[in-house]
Amino acid sequence: KSPPFSLVGAIDQGTSSSRFMLVTSGGRMLSTAQVEFDQIFPMDGACDNIIMSGSCVGWHEHDPFDVWDSVSTCIARTIEELHGMGLDLSSSGGGEDSNNVRIEAVGITNQRETTVCWNDRTGRLYYNAIVWDDARTASVAETIISENSNTSGGKDALRERTGLPIASYFSGTKVRWLIDNVPQLRSDLNSKTERQHVRFGTIDTWLLYMLSGYARSVLEMESNERLAHEGGVYKTDVSNASRWLFMNLKTLDWDEGLVSAICGGSVCWEDGEGVNDGDGATTIPIATALPKIVPSSDGTIGTIRGIPCPNLAKNVLALENVVIGAILGDQQAALFGQSCFLPGEAKCTYGTGLFLMMNTGMEPMSSTRGLLTTVAYQIAGKGAVYALEGSVAFSGSTIGWLRDRLELIKSASETESLALSVHSNEGMYLVPAFSGLFAPHWRPDARGCMVGLTASHTKAHIVRAALESSAYQAREVFDAMVLDSDVHLKEMKVDGGATANKFLMQFQSDILSVPVIRPEFLETTGMGAAFAAGLAVNVWGGLDDISMMWHADKVWKPTMVGAEREKLWNGWNKAVQKSLNWID
Ligand code: G3P
Repeated sequence: KSPPFSLVGAIDQGTSSSRFMLVTSGGRMLSTAQVEFDQIFPMDGACDNIIMSGSCVGWHEHDPFDVWDSVSTCIARTIEELHGMGLDLSSSGGGEDSNNVRIEAVGITNQRETTVCWNDRTGRLYYNAIVWDDARTASVAETIISENSNTSGGKDALRERTGLPIASYFSGTKVRWLIDNVPQLRSDLNSKTERQHVRFGTIDTWLLYMLSGYARSVLEMESNERLAHEGGVYKTDVSNASRWLFMNLKTLDWDEGLVSAICGGSVCWEDGEGVNDGDGATTIPIATALPKIVPSSDGTIGTIRGIPCPNLAKNVLALENVVIGAILGDQQAALFGQSCFLPGEAKCTYGTGLFLMMNTGMEPMSSTRGLLTTVAYQIAGKGAVYALEGSVAFSGSTIGWLRDRLELIKSASETESLALSVHSNEGMYLVPAFSGLFAPHWRPDARGCMVGLTASHTKAHIVRAALESSAYQAREVFDAMVLDSDVHLKEMKVDGGATANKFLMQFQSDILSVPVIRPEFLETTGMGAAFAAGLAVNVWGGLDDISMMWHADKVWKPTMVGAEREKLWNGWNKAVQKSLNWID
């Protein structure tokens, strides 16, 4: 009897949308669905329920239930589409040509650092998810830096252990803010019994918990309040855990010293009994309030209970009993999907932000130029593979700003022809430091600017400058990576939505002075999660099988003359100085 036609699923939960896709064992995408969800930018005065002063400018939140709904809708639509194609999801009989398909495993990949907090007894959320690019914790980071001033190094005081600077970007500063500002959370952490039910998690953990848990009874759901499922698996993978400032890069486990250095309170591993009880200090029980860290590709992570499909028969639950075979942060998943399995192989993803990442092998490589040392992935039973990363906060979101706030364009697809309608930026630069600058500067106080404006500049120049800003920022981190690693990067693999923009890709190649290579499948992030999940359940035998599925689709080669490149690069650097010193 031939085996059924194997598929692997991937949940790709990003900053502005969620996607689910099904991939064949030949590495072909069979079906996919994508759903956008609301971005919450709290306005002044809307933050009264928390202990804080000042405004909510630079805040960015997600409702974790919106995120969950978007994911479950994508899954249901994809499975419904499969049924519509006449494919039979029962697991017996058939070969590649038959109508019998079996979904062998699902991988989760996610926007990283975004932090959720809930109570697993009541199912209540303590607060909205605080998104990775939310700037509110810049002052929290300052406080943490001053509290750790006995260890020299300023914002780099914890770099040796974590690979990260102390900055608003990482989950730990968001946890500290939640503890300091959400009264219910603080009081629960101060209660011996209730603190055992507090759960912090990044989006992967939230989705895993919801996918593997049971819906609460109708009685509990009586009010209109949405409640988290109960009894879900509470885990994260090493790649996501490496973005908290809480994980020790060498032990690959939560580090008590780091949690207490960031949270300023007390920590304990077990049930918290006897630890600081009565002295008013907030105690974080690490063993229960932080998810168990597991390898990224691992067949024992958990099992999906099943997602109702509104357009199918009542008893059809999508993905029922399917194994969750992988969890990977989205940038790490893109590295995996781009088959960057060897030290020195790198990729650049253009999403909401822009993330350049290079595989550095089995040992963490430290950075002196503002890059992050992070875990790339870990396959169960093997050691972790590390990476250097340059994270840029505003890339696709700069175009979103032109569309939604300035209303200069109606859709991102207009930008290519607008940029090409002018010959150059005519000396004008846009630095999108809207919530400070991430790598390689790590300056939360930097602000966005447009410099070099003249009366002859038009909307087209502004759009062009916005696109160019992504390419310049990629070069900043590219140069830092070459210097930090001593690896001469001869090409750059690219992925993400903006790689559809031919102007940006040509300009990127020109500014980097290396070829830019786009793979056949653009959904590299989802593919990476699917590959890692399939690997865990033997759909693919090893990394070589995955590498063989990667094919280049388009290569952009540098055509710009050196003098022009240098002139533009100097102009950008001067503009960045304005952004860094805007207040003087
Ligand atoms: O670190 C943040 C990153 O994971 C977000 O990715 O694709 O949603 O911009 P993206």
